[in-house]
Amino acid sequence: MVQLEILVYPDDRLRQVSQPVKAVDDKITGFIADLEETLSSQPGCVGIAAPQVGNFLRIIIVDVSSRPQHKNHGHLVLINPVITSKKGSSVGREGCLSVPDYTGKVNRSQFIEVKALNRFGSKVAFQMEGYEARAIQHEIDHLDGKLFIDNLVGNRNSLKKRNEL
Ligand code: NI
Repeated sequence: MVQLEILVYPDDRLRQVSQPVKAVDDKITGFIADLEETLSSQPGCVGIAAPQVGNFLRIIIVDVSSRPQHKNHGHLVLINPVITSKKGSSVGREGCLSVPDYTGKVNRSQFIEVKALNRFGSKVAFQMEGYEARAIQHEIDHLDGKLFIDNLVGNRNSLKKRNEL
């Protein structure tokens, strides 16, 4: 496994829309292992999307289990994820490996249902809420070339330098 280099804002490649995975083959499985290695090398980080390492495929990893106060489904590798329903809204603070020095407040759906393929190419579906749902929405945005700084709530004051927290 290899740790992959993370693209950092304002790199234009972060704005690219990623393509669906056509087949979950050995190449994809190997890439997922590298993406997991890259995520686990970043302490406190709960998610990553393939385009953040310059691979423009619709693959995300989310794992909020390090924050057990939030309901979660553990370590999730989701291929071609689609949000099939959403309900409610909540504002929360987000950060991103690709925007390393800042956090900001973003409005997200409170409850979502997401469908995807898992790492074995099998169909999966989850109902999620709160922090885990937020993380999924953040990572799927990356697949569409969007960053959390595009959706800040209120004025620019919601953006904070990490060392000012
Ligand atoms: Ni991010």
